[in-house]
Amino acid sequence: LIFAAKSHSVSTMATEEENVGNAKQQLAKLFEVSLRRIVPDEQDVAPVIAASTGKFGDYQCNNAMGLWSKIKGKGSEFRGPPSVGQAIMKNLPDSEVIESCSVAGPGFVNVVLSKKWLAKRIQKMLIDGIEKWEPQLPIKRAVVDFSSPNIAKEMHVGHLRSTIIGDTLARILEFSNVEVLRRNHVGDWGTQFGMLIEFLFEKFPSIEDVNESAIGDLQAFYKASKQRFDDDPAFKERAQRAVVSLQGGEPKYRNAWLKICEISRKEFHKVYERLGVHLEEKGESFYNPYIPGVLKELSDKGLIEESQGARVIFLEGFNIPLIVVKSDGGFNYASTDLAALWYRLNEEKADWIIYVTDVGQQQHFNMFFEAAKRAGWLPTDGALKPKVTHVGFGLVLGEDGKRFRTRSSEVVRLVDLLDEAKDRSKKVLVERGWTEQELNQIAEAVGYGAVKYADLKNNRLTNYTFDFDQMLSDKKGEIVLDHDGERELGLHLLQFSEVVGSPEETSRLLLCEATAIVMRKCFNLLGIEPVYKI
Ligand code: ARG
Repeated sequence: LIFAAKSHSVSTMATEEENVGNAKQQLAKLFEVSLRRIVPDEQDVAPVIAASTGKFGDYQCNNAMGLWSKIKGKGSEFRGPPSVGQAIMKNLPDSEVIESCSVAGPGFVNVVLSKKWLAKRIQKMLIDGIEKWEPQLPIKRAVVDFSSPNIAKEMHVGHLRSTIIGDTLARILEFSNVEVLRRNHVGDWGTQFGMLIEFLFEKFPSIEDVNESAIGDLQAFYKASKQRFDDDPAFKERAQRAVVSLQGGEPKYRNAWLKICEISRKEFHKVYERLGVHLEEKGESFYNPYIPGVLKELSDKGLIEESQGARVIFLEGFNIPLIVVKSDGGFNYASTDLAALWYRLNEEKADWIIYVTDVGQQQHFNMFFEAAKRAGWLPTDGALKPKVTHVGFGLVLGEDGKRFRTRSSEVVRLVDLLDEAKDRSKKVLVERGWTEQELNQIAEAVGYGAVKYADLKNNRLTNYTFDFDQMLSDKKGEIVLDHDGERELGLHLLQFSEVVGSPEETSRLLLCEATAIVMRKCFNLLGIEPVYKI
C-alpha cells in the first residue's frame, strides 16, 4: 500500500503499550531510539527497516549510508557508513524482540528476531484472533469506486476485473481499519437514455407492462433502439427531445428511466451476489445536481475557458483540454467526475479516493485529477491527504489474442461466464459422495475462486488471456522439497502419525492452526472462499 512506509514512522505510533505493532514497527521503534542517540541533532532521520532476503537476518536497518552522506564533513566521529552501522547497532536499546545483530557491507544492520518473541506473538494471535494484526494506515475513510457498469449497456469482462480488483482493495483497506465506501458509479445518465426511453414507449405503450421478462435482454434492447436511432431521423429527434424531458424531470420520462435502471440493476446484482461482492450504488445521475455549482466554483477560480462552443479546462502537460460542458450545453463524463470528486471530498470527507477502471481511461483520470489540484481541492505541496489514485488494469483477451468475445463476437455476459466457471469446476471435482448441495457450494467456491485468482495473479497493468482450461486445470502441482525449510516441513508432515500426542506435536498443531488462520485471512482478503474438503 502506498501509505505503508509512512505508517511505520514511529512518531505516529502508540508507545504506551509495549509489544504493539508488527515486527517491522517494533524494530522501527528500537532503531529510532538508536538513531536519536547517535545523531541527536539531525532532523528527519526516520528508521528505514526492510525484511531481509539474505540469510544474515530477518530484517535489516538501512540507514547507515544515507545518514553518512548527511553527516560527513560535519566533524563527526564516524569514518564511513560501516562505522555508522556499528554505532546504530551498539546504541540499540535492550529488547526481547531481537536475538542478535550484525553489521554487513556498507553499514547494513542485520537483525535476527528472537524465537521466544516470535512464539509469543503467534500465541497471542491464537488467543486474540488475527483481526488484531490489522495494519495501521493514516487514513480514516476511503472511497473505492469500482465495478461501475453502464445501465442498459453490456457489463463486460472489464467490469468483472474492476469488480474483483476493487473488492480486494476494499477488503484490504477494511482490514486496515479504514472505513470504506464501496461505490458503484454506474453510468445511469446521459443522452443514450433518450433513445432507450423513446424505444420503450414504442414497444410498451403502457409502462405497467414493462418488466424484466418483457424486455428480456437489455443489451439486445439497447442494440435495437440504437439501430432505430441510427435509421430513423424522426425517432432520433424524438429521442433527443426525450433527453430534455428526462432532465427536466417530467414524471413520465423519469418513471421510464427508473424502470430501465431497475432492470439493469437486477442483472448486475446477480453477478455481485455470486462473487460475494458488496457495493453501494451512487450512479452518475446522483451527482448531476451538483455539477452547476462545481463548475461555477471552477469558473470563478478562472479555470474554465470557452473553446469551439464548448467549455473546457486547459491543463499543462496535456495536448487536449478537458471538456466540462459540451457544445450542445450538456454535461459529460468529466463534469460528472468532477462533481463526484467534490462530493466525496466535501460531503463524504474521504481522504483517499480510488478509481478502478481499465488503463484506457488513464488520461481522463490524470486530467481531472490535475484540474482538481489546480482548483485547490487536492494538495500540491506533497501532503499525503486527501489523495486520489487511479488503479488501472489491462484488457482481458480471448484465445485469439483479441478482446474477449463469444464465438458470435458478442460481448460475453458475465452471468454466463460465471455459470460456465461453476459447471466446469463441477466436472473436474472428484466425486466424493457429496450431497448435491455440497457439490454446488464447492463448485461455486472453486469456480468463482478460480476466476478471481486468475485475474488477481497477473500483473494488473498487462493484458491477460482468459482461459478456462488453465484456470480450472485440476493438475495437482508437483511437490519439490529443494529448500531446507520445505524438506523439514515435509518430514514433519510424514511423521505426523508417529508422533501424534507428543508435546512437540501440540506445539506444531498450534503452529498449524496459526498457519490456517493466516491463510484464511489471505483468502478472505482476496475474496476467495476456502474449501475444506476437496
Ligand atoms: N462507467 C464507466 C465505464 O464503464 C466506469 C466508471 C468509473 N468511475 C468513474 N468515477 N469514472 O467505463
